[in-house]
Amino acid sequence: MGKLDGKVAIITGGASGLGTADARLLAAEGASVVITDIQDAMGEALAAELPGCLYLHHDVRSEAEWATVVATTIDQFGRLDILVNNAGLVRFGTVEDISYADYKMQVDVMLDGTFLGCRAAIPHMSRDGSGSIINMASIGGIKGLSVIPAYAGAKGGIIAMTRSIAVHCQEQGYHIRVNSIAPGGIVTPMTAQAVAELPADSAGLEQTAQHGMGQPIDIAKMVLYLACEDGRHMTGANIVIDNGETIR
Ligand SMILES: NC(=O)c1ccc[n+]([C@@H]2O[C@H](COP(=O)([O-])OP(=O)(O)OC[C@H]3O[C@@H](n4cnc5c(N)ncnc54)[C@H](O)[C@@H]3O)[C@@H](O)[C@H]2O)c1
Repeated sequence: MGKLDGKVAIITGGASGLGTADARLLAAEGASVVITDIQDAMGEALAAELPGCLYLHHDVRSEAEWATVVATTIDQFGRLDILVNNAGLVRFGTVEDISYADYKMQVDVMLDGTFLGCRAAIPHMSRDGSGSIINMASIGGIKGLSVIPAYAGAKGGIIAMTRSIAVHCQEQGYHIRVNSIAPGGIVTPMTAQAVAELPADSAGLEQTAQHGMGQPIDIAKMVLYLACEDGRHMTGANIVIDNGETIR
């Protein structure tokens, strides 16, 4: 018996890093997982490995593509229980030197993408009687780091928006739990990019190195906890998983 037998999940940005670890763990616990991303070859290869799972091309900035992804999920699997709004990217640059286009892209993908995902999923989850939405924030949305103003704004926004949507779901009596997770540094292609692009003495990297990087499974286990019955008493929370980086 898996913890998610009979459940159906959508994971955005599932072709790489944390999303891939989430997809593997949720599928291992019995869920049918719809993996979405813009990296089609990687997404398709992952879905082919996981029995009963499906890959869909999906740019989370597009409201129309959200409608198609949710409709295809319902069509193929008959329900929607879990949404992991995980897709993300980072572009470095301080408030003085980041381009407005790079600022906007990060906010569009992470903050708007999460909003559109919640909006597309909630009507179906409420119809089925329950659901769990997990939004991927970051400790970048909690602490100050000079080179990620847009990323920080998007992630801080996700933490705040998660609370507001959680309250809405309670007020409506939907039995949909909405939580966010704020990881510290985890070994993925995104952090490899940070190491390649940022000077080694940059404050963020130094602190992350000091506290040690986590592995994607460290986050996937919390995603599973929130997705399944174990997390039934949690909503509106932001769970920091950073090996103590933000407590000092
Ligand atoms: N790795 C870390 O240390 C860390 C820490 C805190 C938060 N996070 C967050 O976790 C999430 C996953 O990051 P990761 O480290 O696995 O990075 P990653 O680069 O390995 O994966 C991110 C995925 O999102 C996809 N994506 C990007 N733009 C998209 C779009 N417009 N539509 C759909 N998909 C899109 C990418 O194609 C990629 O597959 C992100 O939201 C990131 O901000 C990561």
